[in-house]
Amino acid sequence: MTEENNKNKWRKSTNLVHEAEPRTAYGETGEALFLTSGYVYDSAEQAQARFLGEDDGYQYSRFGNPTVRSFEKRMIALESADFEPDAGFEIDARATATGMAAVAASMLCYLKTGDHVVAAEALFGSCRYIIETLLPRYGIKTTLIDGTDLTAWERAALPETKIFFLESPTNPMLDILDIEAIAEIAHRHDALMAVDNVFATPILQNPFTLGADIVIYSATKHIDGQGRCLGGIVLARKDWIDDHLANFIRQTGPSISPFNAWVMLKSLETLELRVHAHCDRAEKLSEALRVHPKVSRLIYPGNPSHPHYKLAQKQMQRGGSLFSFEVNGGQKAAFQLANHLQLVKISNNLGDAKTLITHPSTTTHQKLEEQDRLKVGITPGTLRVSVGLEDPHDLIDDFMQALESVNS
Ligand SMILES: Cc1ncc(COP(=O)(O)O)c(C=O)c1O
Repeated sequence: MTEENNKNKWRKSTNLVHEAEPRTAYGETGEALFLTSGYVYDSAEQAQARFLGEDDGYQYSRFGNPTVRSFEKRMIALESADFEPDAGFEIDARATATGMAAVAASMLCYLKTGDHVVAAEALFGSCRYIIETLLPRYGIKTTLIDGTDLTAWERAALPETKIFFLESPTNPMLDILDIEAIAEIAHRHDALMAVDNVFATPILQNPFTLGADIVIYSATKHIDGQGRCLGGIVLARKDWIDDHLANFIRQTGPSISPFNAWVMLKSLETLELRVHAHCDRAEKLSEALRVHPKVSRLIYPGNPSHPHYKLAQKQMQRGGSLFSFEVNGGQKAAFQLANHLQLVKISNNLGDAKTLITHPSTTTHQKLEEQDRLKVGITPGTLRVSVGLEDPHDLIDDFMQALESVNS
């Protein structure tokens, strides 16, 4: 049997290594990088046929590129692995230049003036800007709610509601939202359920199995995993991509560079191993900090002390690579701690092999009003940690020595 014929029966881990467009005539083992903006046609008739959609080949890399398609196909195989047999629809995907391009394209390709979106208020800052500021400028109404309150989703839904949008775990306070229950409410109101699955990663949580219609990633995070390239991807049912997203990307151009898509494609080969290694370290480091006398509160979805631990266990395989904690002494103490870390770096990125710490109220969530920050739990003493792949003992030692210097 050929590799192509086998692909349908291979399991997730195997597809993460092998799924891609067919090899070229050179028989390369590593997938080819097609760093090309255009394509050459055999004849004027063929060019015409491609533009009429009567011939399958590529036309221009803003619309499609074989390396980009390999990345999309590998992500489709990953997301389809657990649900496809009885789902009744086929998943397709479009990669984008960044995670934010993926979020913006998913909204703008589908919504029009007069439509309405309901979103959880605990959102990454730029996602919140799209919902709160950008969409209303085009006459699209939006309602932000406490996403952990199921009755709030129900109450906010209007006849014009077209999309429910959330992230879970949320950034940075790691609330867990009940995707299955919220998708059920969305569908009852004829709305689509869109999930930003960045914090959970496609390894730990599969929103399609929980009823999501659109799943969005910043590939910049765990998918790259080594802090090199920006990228994003939208996965959804094939008919929605064909009817809405594909033409929007073609015409407006938030397309990913083939080089970045190639980096993401190759990184997917180790994603499963890396995510579990991140979780191993996050479990150990978060536990060491949780019991420290200078830490007043630690939030990690993989720890039984998390307020939504049961739900996290139900919809996620493990707790993930991120935790947040509050150091006694407010912003001054949080800055002292961050500044005294030697191994751990201060950076607002996440999902990197290197452990990174950020102070959300002065960085990622700085643009929110203080009352909005406090409403989602971001206090001046809150720090968010994205746990990398270093030896957990070195990470614990680094935090312990930095905590020594905090005079709260
Ligand atoms: C939850 C979440 N969604 C979306 C994004 C946007 O991704 P990107 O930076 O690739 O545009 C980020 C991070 O930046 C994020 O943390």
